Amino acid sequence: MSEGAGELPASAVVVSGMRPTGRLHLGHLLGTLRNWVALQERYRCFFFVADWHVLTTDYEGPREVEASVRAMVADWLAAGLDPERSVIFRQSDVKEHAELALLLGMITPLGWLERNPTYKEQREQLAGRDLSTFGFLGYPVLQAADILLYHGAGVPVGIDQVPHVELTREIARRFNHLYGATLVEPRALLSEAPKVPGLDGRKMSKSYGNTVPLDEEPAVIERAMGRMTTDPRRARRTDPGDPEDCPAFDLHRLYCTPEEIDWVRRGCTTAGIGCLECKQVMIRHVLADLAPHRERRAQLERDPAAIDAVLAAGAAQARRVAQETMAQVRAALGRGGAGREEGGAAARPHPARPGREPQA
Ligand code: TRP
Ligand code: SF4
Repeated sequence: MSEGAGELPASAVVVSGMRPTGRLHLGHLLGTLRNWVALQERYRCFFFVADWHVLTTDYEGPREVEASVRAMVADWLAAGLDPERSVIFRQSDVKEHAELALLLGMITPLGWLERNPTYKEQREQLAGRDLSTFGFLGYPVLQAADILLYHGAGVPVGIDQVPHVELTREIARRFNHLYGATLVEPRALLSEAPKVPGLDGRKMSKSYGNTVPLDEEPAVIERAMGRMTTDPRRARRTDPGDPEDCPAFDLHRLYCTPEEIDWVRRGCTTAGIGCLECKQVMIRHVLADLAPHRERRAQLERDPAAIDAVLAAGAAQARRVAQETMAQVRAALGRGGAGREEGGAAARPHPARPGREPQA
């Protein structure tokens, strides 16, 4: 199905996006952003704010999106995404996403979309929302356009997004079959994403209200994490427990030294330490990790113009690639040719064939 980035050629393009739906949290930092930062060292990366995607599930609340975009990009940059290495932009700034989505929609069988597992799941999970829209059903077509526009070969995503990447492959394959080899078939890059538990022990997620937001005050984080769920067997201080059954311990695993882990194991199983005492050791590491992030982030938030400049420069770079791909796509559809295109792309000669051959 999908693997790590191991076998991607060094010249491969990596594409991923994130929906701006509120404050980012520790799960985003450890599960997604650190992986993106590592990928930008090795590949040509395009990372974008998927603001149109928010509308597919939330057409009534788009106002919040505006505020979230800058805040999210501040977190990206604070985490180490580097606009000198990665192309960082906002989906809606590059209209080619919409054009390609429209064209891909023409060849995407309805059955593929109706069978998409996240389509069914989300309709159940987001029961309060009106999801009986064309946009929601077409979510994966827009996502396919996001990826194919940049000839993305690798798409770092969580396991829940794998069906969308698979659909993107299918759509690319169908396009290539119908119109000639044009689009690269991508695959999902599943990082060994660490398990990041939320405060209640379930997966950290905004929808569970159990997060550690990256912009939160340290004192608030410390207090909240001090109450984090532990092994239920340790109801009393004198009851021994087992770290393997303790959600908080998943964070110890990520943050603590081997010596500290030994201390936890011994203290927990013998009731030699209390849970708060135990968690404090881990919380100290979390706070130390977040402190420089918070500082960089605060700096960026004081300078929104700098963030806007990053997004503007990123959009310009993304647009150049996107326009080239669209020229290839239009040519493949037999609609290419001078005068058909608008704006800057018209000035550039058409590649007779795509510069990059699709990979099998
Ligand atoms: N659907 C993704 C999510 O909800 C976000 C996304 C949109 C995306 N377009 C993408 C991810 C393209 C990877 C590639 O998380
Ligand atoms: Fe978890 Fe530590 Fe409490 Fe054991 S002592 S249950 S590992 S918090």
